[in-house]
Amino acid sequence: MSFSNQNRKGQCFKNRKFIKIEIFERNLMMFYDRYGSVFKTHVLGCPCVMISSPEAAKFVLVTKSHLFKPTFPASKERMLGKQAIFFHQGDYHAKLRKLVLRAFMPESIRNMVPDIESIAQDSLRSWEGTMINTYQEMKTYTFNVALLSIFGKDEVLYREDLKRCYYILEKGYNSMPVNLPGTLFHKSMKARKELSQILARILSERRQNGSSHNDLLGSFMGDKEELTDEQIADNIIGVIFAARDTTASVMSWILKYLAENPNVLEAVTEEQMAIRKDKEEGESLTWGDTKKMPLTSRVIQETLRVASILSFTFREAVEDVEYEGYLIPKGWKVLPLFRNIHHSADIFSNPGKFDPSRFEVAPKPNTFMPFGNGTHSCPGNELAKLEMSIMIHHLTTKYSWSIVGASDGIQYGPFALPQNGLPIVLARKPEIEV
Ligand code: HEM
Repeated sequence: MSFSNQNRKGQCFKNRKFIKIEIFERNLMMFYDRYGSVFKTHVLGCPCVMISSPEAAKFVLVTKSHLFKPTFPASKERMLGKQAIFFHQGDYHAKLRKLVLRAFMPESIRNMVPDIESIAQDSLRSWEGTMINTYQEMKTYTFNVALLSIFGKDEVLYREDLKRCYYILEKGYNSMPVNLPGTLFHKSMKARKELSQILARILSERRQNGSSHNDLLGSFMGDKEELTDEQIADNIIGVIFAARDTTASVMSWILKYLAENPNVLEAVTEEQMAIRKDKEEGESLTWGDTKKMPLTSRVIQETLRVASILSFTFREAVEDVEYEGYLIPKGWKVLPLFRNIHHSADIFSNPGKFDPSRFEVAPKPNTFMPFGNGTHSCPGNELAKLEMSIMIHHLTTKYSWSIVGASDGIQYGPFALPQNGLPIVLARKPEIEV
């Protein structure tokens, strides 16, 4: 049997040249209701198999991951760089993954707590008393933490130059790949070139100094079979891309859900105050403190589930693959739909409700995949959770915030975002004895 002629078909996107991602995302849940957990459709004329069952997602992402390669638009590949981790399978991917995981495993990031904390405190101070666009400001926070994880404490030396170039580069991520003077894509490619030059300079300074570093750049440079400068640059730009907007988007949803659920906010604040209680004024958080935040961590999990900011991912069958009697022909796209799994009433009761207590019991295997699953799952998930916990600690113990304007809508930029990036006013709480 083949999906192409035997399976139910939902061909709404046929003949549409351009498709707005939000329309696509909204329709995914509807498709699920109509066609079931595995069905075929067309996106921009390409045949795609949509997957909303935990078992089928595991088949594609874990058990038979070698038969499904990641696939991205050509423009993204050119912007991030062809040699970035996302685009590869096999030995080169495994080597990069080992180096990235080495820099982001708990043992490596535990020493970053005081530096992340001071980035969080600086950010919060700069937002005090003004109306801010939560998403935009969180992007600055997550950008600075990403640079810290890549360059260690040296990051402040390069922050402004890297920021200037990266901010131009990102504007072209979703542009048409037309490399003519004046186009967004052209400006982005120029900024990318400059970014590579800055990175080459940093690499050369480090080689001259000869000192070793525990950050991501140190991990890339320390590999016995050395990576080329170009491979390193592609992967550094790739990690900034993977780390920044994702975490900023989740942080924005956390602020929204906490503001809308005062009981949860109060309980989180109590949990965080209990950590402050044993500390002197101005004393830093420790790695151990960040492990004493069970409710905060359930709030993060529930936000990841409800918001499902990465609604789905793309794979392509590298050969004909059979799944449960169906044939997925070589070259067909396969999309595991994380959001549909996270919003299935068969898996999570009352799925639209924000209820962190549901995570008091661990979810069943392959039903909760905010960081993906298998070979390409997110190597930065521990860092993301750490920087979110530290921000929540300072936010709830020292500040209150209120949402400005309507907050019910969702935008895609490209990740799911609260409407208008969630404008808020942040105010310092009066000092209280703890
Ligand atoms: C809350 C924030 C984040 C979310 C929700 C998230 C989610 C994901 C997901 C779902 C994937 C797998 C995509 C796929 O299978 O196609 C992924 C991959 C990846 N993420 Fe994250 N991520 C987050 C933060 C981070 C951070 C902070 C970093 C780095 C510091 C990072 C680095 C990466 C990298 C390098 C990959 C590619 C891995 C590979 O291809 O082997 N992510 N992320």
